[in-house]
Amino acid sequence: AVLRRMLSLGDFEEAARRRLPRPIFGYIAGAAEDNVSLRDNRKVFDEYGFTTRVLCDVSQRSQAVELFGERYSSPFGIAPMGINALSTYRGDLVLARAAQRAGIASVLSATSLIPLEEVARESPGTWFQAYLPGDQARIDALIDRVAHAGFRTLVVTVDIPISANRENNIRTGFSTPLKPSLRLAWDGMVRPRWVAGTLLRTLLHHGMPHFENSFATRGAPIVSSSVLRDFSARDHLSWRHIEAIRRRWKGPLVVKGILSVEDALKARHAGADGVVLSNHGGRQLDGAVSAMRILEAVVAALGPCYPVLIDGGFRRGSDVLKALALGARMVLVGRPFNYAAAVAGEAGVLHAIALLRDEIDRNLAMLGAKRCQEIGPQHIVRR
Ligand code: FNR
Repeated sequence: AVLRRMLSLGDFEEAARRRLPRPIFGYIAGAAEDNVSLRDNRKVFDEYGFTTRVLCDVSQRSQAVELFGERYSSPFGIAPMGINALSTYRGDLVLARAAQRAGIASVLSATSLIPLEEVARESPGTWFQAYLPGDQARIDALIDRVAHAGFRTLVVTVDIPISANRENNIRTGFSTPLKPSLRLAWDGMVRPRWVAGTLLRTLLHHGMPHFENSFATRGAPIVSSSVLRDFSARDHLSWRHIEAIRRRWKGPLVVKGILSVEDALKARHAGADGVVLSNHGGRQLDGAVSAMRILEAVVAALGPCYPVLIDGGFRRGSDVLKALALGARMVLVGRPFNYAAAVAGEAGVLHAIALLRDEIDRNLAMLGAKRCQEIGPQHIVRR
């Protein structure tokens, strides 16, 4: 019933705010420092407008795209997000399953709470996103584990040399390790549905959640202070580590978190099969530009054949089509799918996917295009 009121991706945010404990909602919605990058991720779309073509016979439309030798039913996928399993019961599986059903790409996060082997078994098309452990031996062991589980596409996120300043987490009482507090207890009392449906159900059936997928072996429980030790010490990593991964990983390799033409060229040089332009949803360097602002230049430098993906603030079909017009091959969407899972589990995510897909379909028709591949610079102008 609640899904009938969800008319656009943006509607899920308010609904999720009412369902999730404040620290958890804040962790998802939040960004870094003054949210300058977070705002830029939305603002940028207003700076572009479409030019349309009419009377094109668009009766036979398809938004399917091909990427890394796979066919996807839509030009958008689900971005990797940590701790999804605190938004809804078995959150990572919920998102992966919905994506699989809908035929879109989805990426399992390194900071997820469900063993990657389980996700690969249930939803074999899922991509895996890694954060690199601090030394080559542990990187190799993680890569081998991911390959052994059957993942085909590996995304390495490189925009977290150190943790960002996420003041909002402190303000709302979210931390890793998660600390039980009076505030959390109160928050639970006013959201009994989350406590029963997500927290207790998880503890009962699976015990204390652990960071399962950051290393070759199970990581720390989310309430343990060794979490911090595990995630620090990445600041010395360099392109040599990407080259080493390239030698080890046989499938498609994607570098996520690129925000300059220079680095996009370095990623290709290191052997990556694609890049994700991203400011991490505004959650890392506050003031970093929206990836949309460098998209055209990156595509110009790398050529039309090299897969350039992008994320950050995409909420409408029109946003997705603006990125395609500037040369992106696929768009990743984060928060709205997390909220949708929190609101209505797999049905919520499927509904969100359908909304975005319908918007893209309508907009394709009004642009005068039958396929995403026809969308190009001829459809867009800077205001
Ligand atoms: C993220 N993001 C992220 N990225 C990544 O590579 N690994 C991760 O574990 C996470 N974790 C994560 C958690 C949460 C709650 C959010 C909101 C985001 C960043 C994510 O993949 C993506 O870059 C942005 O979320 C895209 O922006 P939108 O669509 O959320 O605006």
